[in-house]
Amino acid sequence: MGENIIPLVDERVAAPVPRIPATLAPPSGRVVDTLGRPLRDLRISVTDRCNFRCRYCMPKEVFDRHYRFLPHAELLSFEEITRLARLFVAHGVRKLRLTGGEPLLRKDVELLIGQLAALRTLDGQPLDVTLTTNGSVLARKARALREAGLQRVTVSLDALDDAIFRAMNDVDFPVGEVLRGIDTALHEGLAPVKVNMVVKRGTNDHEIVPMARFVRDRYGPRVALRFIEYMDVGATNGWRMDEVLPSAQVLQRLQAAFALEPLAAAAPGETAERWRYADGGGEIGLISSVTQAFCRDCNRARLSTEGKLFLCLFATRGHDLRALLRGGASDAELAAVIGDIWSARGDRYSELRGLQQAAPGPGQRRIEMHYIGG
Ligand code: GTP
Ligand code: 5AD
Ligand code: SF4
Ligand code: SF4
Repeated sequence: MGENIIPLVDERVAAPVPRIPATLAPPSGRVVDTLGRPLRDLRISVTDRCNFRCRYCMPKEVFDRHYRFLPHAELLSFEEITRLARLFVAHGVRKLRLTGGEPLLRKDVELLIGQLAALRTLDGQPLDVTLTTNGSVLARKARALREAGLQRVTVSLDALDDAIFRAMNDVDFPVGEVLRGIDTALHEGLAPVKVNMVVKRGTNDHEIVPMARFVRDRYGPRVALRFIEYMDVGATNGWRMDEVLPSAQVLQRLQAAFALEPLAAAAPGETAERWRYADGGGEIGLISSVTQAFCRDCNRARLSTEGKLFLCLFATRGHDLRALLRGGASDAELAAVIGDIWSARGDRYSELRGLQQAAPGPGQRRIEMHYIGG
């Protein structure tokens, strides 16, 4: 089975090394891409490993004991990540999100958080530093993360029912331990917590209302529950449109159970459409990448575990920043390269998918979610 993944490994090696421009314009903090979108959010994958095998992300048959995860020497070091993050901030980035794989499996990740939390935006403000975790070791790590400077966390949780949750993570991991992680995070002040539920029709869609009720009753406004449409990301999850439950239907089911009012977006380019309980019991979000693309304001860049810059979750190619870092490029050169790459960006995969124009070209294969980060 492990042989199946060879094209993916080849792609990881084959990313082009960006050319350093002849003139090094210093970053203005206002770089925009070809569609006028600024660069605001950098999502950094710190490991391609995970202790779960969610079928929509790392199906067991592919990510088995033969699968070649990146060796340690290939990973960006914390110093390399922080150096790049600082240069992205110089181009206008205000939010840093650590992802994976499971980011809390990266050894000493709190040291990285400490380095990132010390960075400042162009107007001298602290950055929004957060991470997306499966919650499996959060109870153990929450205090150290908070002490290092993490402000909040997003926890993935696809079902409340223990049997469904164990089947979805496919490693028999119990739901109670993730709930303990959320409780501890809140107790340590990592707030607000967001909980992400990927909805798959026929697998966990009957958990929508119970999850909403549970989160609302147990946590109130301290936790926002977001329902994510199952996406065709990567090439291994066997995605089918009939397993997507459109957010409009998620909303209908919620509205049948609760009185909800729409909320305005908290920030431009946000992924979630937000609603609140009319009685003040908190808020929910709908992330509808499949049925209502949100590329128009997409301000997110992704840095892979071994230092490739991806401009879209559905990209087939990254730009090898690590080759430049390790080849001795100066900060000015790296910043100019980042600015050039963003200025040339035109990615809008989900919009094109909606227009039926988004198939990968011959020999291309989409990058996996556990590698590029969520
Ligand atoms: P905050 O609201 O600031 O916490 O950030 P966020 O909305 O980016 O949250 P999060 O990282 O939890 O993203 C939620 C989910 O939305 C991810 O897990 C992905 O499934 C999806 N997502 C995030 N960014 C993108 C994107 O750029 N494109 C698409 N298609 N999906 C995305
Ligand atoms: N579709 C939608 N969301 C996904 N995630 C991982 N794979 C998919 C997919 N195919 C979500 C995880 C987590 C975040 C990192 O991305 O559940 O919340
Ligand atoms: Fe791991 Fe998250 Fe992927 Fe599940 S979705 S396998 S928890 S990285
Ligand atoms: Fe951004 Fe690509 Fe997602 Fe569109 S599909 S919102 S361009 S990451």
